[in-house]
Amino acid sequence: MGLLDRLLDKSIVFSFDRTGYRRHAKGFEPGDLDVDLAGRVCLVTGASSGLGVEVVRGLAGRGATVHMLCRNVEKGERVRDALVGEVRGPLVVDRVDLSDFASIRRFVDALDVAAIDVLVHNAGVLPAERQTTPDGLELTAATNLVGPFLLSHLLWPRLKRDARLVHVSSGGMYSEPLDVAKLLDPPAPFDGVRAYAQTKRAQVVLAELLDARSPLRVSSMHPGWADTPGVETSLPRFHTLTKPILRTPAQGADTIVWLAASPAAAEPGGRFYFDRAPRETHLSAKTRERPEERERFWVTLCELVGADPEEDFR
Ligand SMILES: NC(=O)c1ccc[n+]([C@@H]2O[C@H](COP(=O)([O-])OP(=O)(O)OC[C@H]3O[C@@H](n4cnc5c(N)ncnc54)[C@H](OP(=O)(O)O)[C@@H]3O)[C@@H](O)[C@H]2O)c1
Repeated sequence: MGLLDRLLDKSIVFSFDRTGYRRHAKGFEPGDLDVDLAGRVCLVTGASSGLGVEVVRGLAGRGATVHMLCRNVEKGERVRDALVGEVRGPLVVDRVDLSDFASIRRFVDALDVAAIDVLVHNAGVLPAERQTTPDGLELTAATNLVGPFLLSHLLWPRLKRDARLVHVSSGGMYSEPLDVAKLLDPPAPFDGVRAYAQTKRAQVVLAELLDARSPLRVSSMHPGWADTPGVETSLPRFHTLTKPILRTPAQGADTIVWLAASPAAAEPGGRFYFDRAPRETHLSAKTRERPEERERFWVTLCELVGADPEEDFR
């Protein structure tokens, strides 16, 4: 990478924006995504909006059977109906609310699939106010982290040994260290952006931990800044200011599809990706967690979903 590219990447803005995507895309290997996914079964959360729609398009467009996991089934069905004439692979809309353990369990019990090739944890929220879920968790932590981890846990026996698990994190995670207490019980007054960044940091650490413990191919990634309904609703001022330079949802979703589908991404090794390349997980020494905090994180998360921290996920 040349000096100018390195400087532009360090600027963040001209890396996370659409010019950053175009610049990084010049280094993409043509053919990386020339794959036929017919017969593969992929589950995508948050498939009713933004990046999730593009992940569905990218995977089903290459022939995969895609289960669109949506909390709002009617909205998911509208997206499915719009895509159905365009993609080759079958689309199935399933109801699951990731902030509600009972909903996740109902979905897994009803799922008539024996072997899963890909699980994309894409759904995410950034609420302005603190809210508590039916399971007594703070909403951001439940939706972005604990619910998805319960889903991974319950689906584990059906995930193929070489299945791919992709956690959609955020560049916002660079601002926060892993702190289990703050992650699960954000301090008052509630700061939605910090609570969100905590969950996004936690997703990156979780990908590292899961990859190290299991035969699965686990990764995390961040999409840069893409123009989606989520950004418009959750960060209206940021959206207004940056709209002209935001990535398209397809550009934001590109690395998710690559990690889920490309033979070039077969050994992600628990790493954190951006624009099809592994990236550093810390920009400052201040955000590095201690090994004891990682251990506390793992044991706490397993306890929350009823998993055995020693035996499960092998
Ligand atoms: N866009 C960006 O620039 C950007 C940057 C960094 C990270 N990300 C991450 O990318 C992912 C996708 O975000 P997006 O920008 O595409 O946002 P989005 O347009 O708001 O899409 C989020 C998706 O998550 C779903 N969802 C929210 N709460 C849920 C719940 N309790 N159960 C099940 N599904 C739920 C939403 O469902 P509904 O359709 O029913 O609302 C929607 O389908 C998120 O994890 C986000 O943190 C995005």
